[in-house]
Amino acid sequence: MLLTLYFNRISISPMQAVIRAVDSAVPERRMANEEFTATIDTSDEWIRSHTGIGFRHIAEPSVATSDLAIEAGRKALKKAGVPAKDVDLVIVATITGDYIGFPSVACIVQDRLGASSAAAMDLGAGCTGFIYALETARSFVVAGSAKNVLVVGAEVLSRIVDWKDRNTCVLFGDGAGAALVSAESGDGSRGIISSSLGADGSGAELLARPLGGIRTPLTAESITAGAYLHMDGRQVYNFAVKVVSEGIVSMLEKNKICLEDVAWIVPHQANVRIIEAAAKRSKIPLAKFFTNIEEYANTSAASIPIALSEMCSKGLLKKGDLLVTFGFGAGLTYGGNLIRW
Ligand code: ACO
Repeated sequence: MLLTLYFNRISISPMQAVIRAVDSAVPERRMANEEFTATIDTSDEWIRSHTGIGFRHIAEPSVATSDLAIEAGRKALKKAGVPAKDVDLVIVATITGDYIGFPSVACIVQDRLGASSAAAMDLGAGCTGFIYALETARSFVVAGSAKNVLVVGAEVLSRIVDWKDRNTCVLFGDGAGAALVSAESGDGSRGIISSSLGADGSGAELLARPLGGIRTPLTAESITAGAYLHMDGRQVYNFAVKVVSEGIVSMLEKNKICLEDVAWIVPHQANVRIIEAAAKRSKIPLAKFFTNIEEYANTSAASIPIALSEMCSKGLLKKGDLLVTFGFGAGLTYGGNLIRW
C-alpha cells in the first residue's frame, strides 16, 4: 500500500510533545554470567566488578528485532489507549535491523501493528538512538507534522557479538522499549522539553561492525571471520565518562535548571563504572541515576526505554517529575533529553 504522511495538517498550536505511555519487551531467556564460564575464560566476579552486569536476556533464534519492537510498540499503544491507525510516524532506533540496510524495521512494525496511516523510518545512532529518536518525534510534533509518534528502541545484539570474544560478548543483551509521543496543547513546559544531541565521527572505528557493509562486503574468504561487533572498550569508556558528565551539566545549565529540581537521571546502561565515574566527575549524587544494567546488560538503543518502562512499573515516575536521559554510543554519538513526566 502506498502511504503518505501529510505535513502541516495539525492546526492547533503551540504544541508540546508528551510521552503518553512507555512499555518494553524482553526475551524470556535469562542468561547468568556463570553460563559464560563453560566457553570463555571469565567469571561472574570479573563481569560484575568491571561492568555491574549480572544477567542479560537472549532472543530465541526465530525472534528478530522487529518482533521485539512490535511487542513493545503494541503494549505502549494499548497503555496509551491510542489505536495504531492514529499513529502518524513510527521511528525505530536500532543497529541490529532484521535486514542489512533495507527494508527498515520501522516499516515491518508499521505493517504488523496496523499503523496504516503512519510513515516509518529507522534511525541509526548506536546506543544514543532512542534519545535521537525522541528528539525527532518532538520536532515532528512541535512542527505540527505529526500528532502521534511511536518511538521504539529495539536490538538483538546477541546475534552480532562474537561469543568467543570475552571482551565484548559478556556486555550485551536483547530487548525493546517503546514510547508513544503525542501532541498536547501547552506552553512546552511539559513532555520532551529539549534535547542536546552530538557526534564525534572521528571515533567511528572505535565501535563498529565492519564486515558486511558496502565498504567491506562479505566475501567467501571473509565470511568465516563473521560480521561481528568490534569495540575499543577503553577508548569508548573514556569518551563515555567525558560526554555523560559534561553533557548532563551543560543541559541543566542551558535550560537554567538546578540539579535539586531533577528527580532522575536515566543514563544509557552500558557499564555501571561509567555511570559511577560520570557521577563523581560531575558531582551529581549517584542516587539520582537509575540503573538496571544488572538485569539486562547493554541493550543499546533499547536501554533507555526499557529503563523508563521499569521505572513506570515500579511507580518511580510521578507526573511532573523532571528527568534527564543521557546516552552515548556507536558513531560516536551522544545526547540527552530533558523531560517533564
Ligand atoms: N572476563 C575476564 N577478563 C576479561 C574480560 C572478561 N569478560 N574481558 C576483558 N578481560 C580482560 C582483558 O583481556 C584484559 O586482560 P589483559 O590485561 O591480560 O590483557 C583485562 O581484562 C583488562 O581489560 P580492560 O579492557 O582494561 O578492562 P576494563 O576495566 O577497561 O573493562 C570494558 C573493559 C568493560 C569493556 C570497559 O572498557 C567498558 O565498559 N567500555 C565501554 C564499553 C561500552 O560502554 N560500549 C557501549 C557502547 S555500545 C553501542 O553503542 C553498541
